[in-house]
Amino acid sequence: MTTIPPSKPVTVPELFEARRAGRKLAMLTAYDAGFARVFDANGADIILVGDTLGMVVQGHPSTLPVIVEDIEYHTRNVARALSRALLLADLPFQADATPERALDAATRLLQAGAGMIKLEGGGRHKLDAIRFLVEREIPVSAHLGLTPQSVLRFGGYKVQGREETAAKQLRADALAVAEAGASLLVLECVPAALAAEITHASPIPTIGIGAGPHCDGQVLVLHDFLGLDTGTRRPKFVKDFLAENGSVAGAVRAYVEAVRNGSFPGVEHSYA
Ligand code: KIV
Repeated sequence: MTTIPPSKPVTVPELFEARRAGRKLAMLTAYDAGFARVFDANGADIILVGDTLGMVVQGHPSTLPVIVEDIEYHTRNVARALSRALLLADLPFQADATPERALDAATRLLQAGAGMIKLEGGGRHKLDAIRFLVEREIPVSAHLGLTPQSVLRFGGYKVQGREETAAKQLRADALAVAEAGASLLVLECVPAALAAEITHASPIPTIGIGAGPHCDGQVLVLHDFLGLDTGTRRPKFVKDFLAENGSVAGAVRAYVEAVRNGSFPGVEHSYA
């Protein structure tokens, strides 16, 4: 291993500093203190309490049944285990339907230990929610591309931005969420070339999942990263880091190193 993770806590300004310095950010999801502690101790920069917990922890077919109380509970558990990583928590389905609802949910998540909240989408009311939160000192990560809370409109979990009209909309949304005050942008399941273009034009750091190697960082869902069967089709961007590394701690170190040196994701994990 060539990379020694810095020991100072990862803050919002540190995300921008990492991007400026060309140091890629390694992010993983976690839902409990046990995994969060191992991830934190082995170099993960950001831990996400994602609403994927609806699927991988609760066993639902989508993230739509997740409620704020679920995210709050898991955020409290994860927060107790972290000493360095930034804790990001998801606003679940419709918790951002109005700026006031978003403020109420985000406040609960920050009080549970989150350092930043994430919300999906770039439409007008999402931009209003981002602005409303940021004006009230709540750091926000946006999430564009395959936003799982839009699964009913998308008609399934499909790569987004392949057609030029959709790509144009994604480019515009990426600039709009940054303009509204977001400090981070997760790009999920978009063609690698489009994610590279968005990252280049973006004033804020980007984190990819199924978005190719040119984002400023990467995220994987815990269960995918450990090669667990989640009962759904295994997406192309997933890599089982446990298989080759023998322990969860070793898998995290290998993941962090691979993200930082750009060897993960490879072309085999990316969409054209
Ligand atoms: O909920 C989640 O785990 C996420 C990741 C897939 C980025 O949003």
